[in-house]
Amino acid sequence: MIAFVTTNEGKFREVSTKLAEAHVKLVHEDRTYPEIQTDRLEKVVRFAATILDDQIRGDYLIDDSGLFLEEFGGFPGVYSSYVYKRLACAGVLKLLHGARNRAARFETVFLLRTSEEHDVFHGECRGSIAERERGSGGFGFDPIFVPEGATKTFAEMTLTEKNAVSHRARAVDALVAHLLARKER
Ligand code: IMP
Repeated sequence: MIAFVTTNEGKFREVSTKLAEAHVKLVHEDRTYPEIQTDRLEKVVRFAATILDDQIRGDYLIDDSGLFLEEFGGFPGVYSSYVYKRLACAGVLKLLHGARNRAARFETVFLLRTSEEHDVFHGECRGSIAERERGSGGFGFDPIFVPEGATKTFAEMTLTEKNAVSHRARAVDALVAHLLARKER
């Protein structure tokens, strides 16, 4: 059993559903932890783990994600939660108004703490920013993100459809591969 430390219900739903397919049970640990301002998602989870290690017994998982816009050299990236709080989807659409390059990617970094170590897993999903908000599913920037090869935004997809291609689902794949390899050792 792994505790997923997050206040984000949407993240928990995505990760627990996908992990259940691999017969890994996830419980929701609904609490906040310090998120430092830095240039890489991985540094955010590594710092958070130094705090959570003393607070949580047993195995736990944390997720830090970001939306990277090509037009702005990757911004908001590690600042995505601040930009979402201040500008939301409408603000990102405004920033990109008239821009030629609407390419974007989502990235997720997971950190898994087990008794002996910290392991980090990455997932990425390339796509583009839609012209307007579409759909009511998911969370965060989902209404404006269209993954490569799709026409729907993440918010127009079912959980299963988003989980088939998303950055977070790719990170879950890497996590599951690690758990399987560890079992075989
Ligand atoms: P966090 O710091 O990992 O919680 O995420 C940074 C920001 O990106 C938050 O505003 C989230 O709502 C948003 N975000 C993270 N993952 C996703 C996703 O899968 N879809 C849409 N927005 C996301």
